[in-house]
Amino acid sequence: MEKIAEKRRIVLVPFPAQGHITPMMQLGQALSFKGFSITVAQGEYNKVSSSQHFPTFQFVTIPESVPVSQKENLGLVEFLMKLNNNSEARFKDCVAELLLENGNDFACIIYDELMYFSEAAAKEFKIPSVILSTASATNHACGCVLSKLNAEKFLVDIEDPEVQDKVVENLDPLRYKNLPISGMGPLDRFLEICREVFNKRTASAVIINTASCLESSSLSWLKQELNIPVFPLGPLHITASANSSLLEEDRSCIEWLNKQVPRSVIYISLGSIAHMETKEVREMAWGLRNSNQPFLWVIRPGSIAGSESLPEEVSKTVSEKGYIVKWAPQKEVLGHPAVGGFWSHCGWNSTLESIVEGVPMICRPFKGEQKLNAIYVESVWRIGFQLQGEVERARVERAVKRLIVDEEVEGMWERALVLKEKLKASIRSGGSSYKALDELAKYFETE
Ligand code: UDX
Repeated sequence: MEKIAEKRRIVLVPFPAQGHITPMMQLGQALSFKGFSITVAQGEYNKVSSSQHFPTFQFVTIPESVPVSQKENLGLVEFLMKLNNNSEARFKDCVAELLLENGNDFACIIYDELMYFSEAAAKEFKIPSVILSTASATNHACGCVLSKLNAEKFLVDIEDPEVQDKVVENLDPLRYKNLPISGMGPLDRFLEICREVFNKRTASAVIINTASCLESSSLSWLKQELNIPVFPLGPLHITASANSSLLEEDRSCIEWLNKQVPRSVIYISLGSIAHMETKEVREMAWGLRNSNQPFLWVIRPGSIAGSESLPEEVSKTVSEKGYIVKWAPQKEVLGHPAVGGFWSHCGWNSTLESIVEGVPMICRPFKGEQKLNAIYVESVWRIGFQLQGEVERARVERAVKRLIVDEEVEGMWERALVLKEKLKASIRSGGSSYKALDELAKYFETE
């Protein structure tokens, strides 16, 4: 992309988790290609290392508002409440210093929707604020629905079995039972955070890391509902390939992939947060081995509950056909010709990365919006299927064979290829995401 003369400064406030940091940094890079100066404001926890991949960005620290020792014991909702309550004043101080240092030429503060404390500083210093929603548009729409439950138009009890099967108005195929509440802690507390995130905000626009061809009905719904500009400019990882990995990528797996037959390998990764029980890992290992297909498996340090390292039995079981790494260069892996399928937890970034490479998926979502993404993969885009119920070796073996060997997978490859081409077209000149990024840059100039 052509680089143009330096424009105004944009402050980014990412949420400190890999799946959120990645798209925020990619957005920063895309806007820097458009000529904006970028400042990243972040805490100490899960900090993006500044110098290596982002030499032109300015990095500033928001003093830590929740001690790391406390983070471990807090659920997501309690952590978010505490983080947002404690960070408001700290971030205001931070912005005041930035204004002194850089002058007043701030185009905008773009904050992850979970970092809603940012709005107070934006208001105080009269800087426009824009939200980045790092997950799907459908998830964003669900957040709106949840934040308004039992108020105004969404007057329903989502725990009522009769309500659960109903389609959420104008959000077909979404049913109330699909609203992403599972694994998010007690419902009343989760709804409270949804209200905090959605009902009180004063941001002037929303950026979503999606494309019109993936979620047109959810995007139309959001544009009507939110009444502010919505910019679907994804998938950001094609527009900007910024590397913001918090863990070191083990590139030896690419050499291993180079030795495998085309479309034969199943790649397994559960993203940066999901955990598995030791028993499940053992069943998976046996199922994978019995499938007789080669596999590349990412097992993050600490991702097996109650076990510091990989059980010896698992290492032995997988040694013939499998290759295990702690963290892979995922986008490159998915683009490798040897990969024949992706066993995924369906995090939104992983889902987009798989679609961009046209790779069919086995969906094994853990919680929240991953379940929505899995429904889209299976029923809307029809490029994969869900593995539900217990992880048990015979079912794992069957699922792997279904994805790699069965004739049925040909249809999935074809549909995945069509979607891949549509997505790539959307970020090319004249495409919907390309235009949305252009419009966003113009929007900052006029705000
Ligand atoms: C979580 C949610 O699951 C996700 O849906 C939400 O949008 C952000 O927060 P996470 O569980 O980490 O994120 O999943 P995902 O969104 O898929 O992000 C994981 C990222 O880590 C992807 O960009 C993936 O490429 C990267 N990754 C994963 C690697 O680079 N190497 C690996 O070995 C595994």
